[in-house]
Amino acid sequence: MPARPIIAVTRWIPDDAVKVLAEAGEVRMSDLDRPLTPEELRSFVAGASAIVAMLHDRVDGEVAEAAGPQLAVVANVAVGYDNLDVPALSERGVTVTNTPGVLTDATADLAFGLLLAVTRRLGEGERLLRDREPWSFHLGFLLGSGLQGKTLGIVGLGQIGRAMATRGAAFGLRTVYSGRSAKPDFDGEFVSFDELLKQSDFVSLHCPLTPETRHLIDAAALRAMKPGAYLVNTTRGPVVDEAALADALEAGEIAGAALDVFEREPEVEPRLLTRDDVVLTPHLGSATVETRTAMAVLAARNVTSVLTGEAPLTEVAP
Ligand code: DGY
Repeated sequence: MPARPIIAVTRWIPDDAVKVLAEAGEVRMSDLDRPLTPEELRSFVAGASAIVAMLHDRVDGEVAEAAGPQLAVVANVAVGYDNLDVPALSERGVTVTNTPGVLTDATADLAFGLLLAVTRRLGEGERLLRDREPWSFHLGFLLGSGLQGKTLGIVGLGQIGRAMATRGAAFGLRTVYSGRSAKPDFDGEFVSFDELLKQSDFVSLHCPLTPETRHLIDAAALRAMKPGAYLVNTTRGPVVDEAALADALEAGEIAGAALDVFEREPEVEPRLLTRDDVVLTPHLGSATVETRTAMAVLAARNVTSVLTGEAPLTEVAP
């Protein structure tokens, strides 16, 4: 009997997805409770026909070489795929897939939750109670910023950006957006990035991380934002220059920031950790049971499709 293809899964995935993978091959799942080091990753994938990768795995030509010429597919369990060297993989005939669609609502929910948390000072209030600080209700106590009638600036109007705008509309926000091109089917104003910074009370980042968007939010962009504005980042940390953000907050150039992703994840710029005008969550955008299961199952279906000679469901264009 011919050997079954090896499917290397770099970190735990839900059973539903393991079951799908097991239909097409032998599942080799890392049991370490941490990301594999680059060296460990290369040795872990040796002999694999498929790699199921997490967003912290850097999968490039060297990893593909380490796997061997039978490697047919790299399935990222994430919609973002800045961790993959797509040209190097495609050059070697490896199909690359990601998981768009299934995490749209969960991520937009978290982004909007962060917007509410930072504007209504939820973290600060929570810390005050947990620290058993004395307090009493009074009209000037922990005042935040309301949303009604204000402007939400969406940077990158993909599926998650649109879902964020829908949530914004339900809270009485007007939307402007910037990106590569205007979307005629979207009921919000398309503006340049500079104009978006100038007009928005809340700037929410939804663009992918690319060489063009790395440090898109730098010192100049932060200076261009309204003095009372807030920044929300649920896409990829390096889109924001964290040191410049800490400088801008220290200088009072913007009112606050809510971050789910970090420039040097899992590290966080130490100056942000001590600020009350910053809300921080550890990359939880898609972290619901339903969504994470759907992501892993979609990645698994992509693998089984490629290994059985069918078209993958959600291929990343080579
Ligand atoms: C993604 O899918 O790219 C997200 O960052 C995971 O939550």
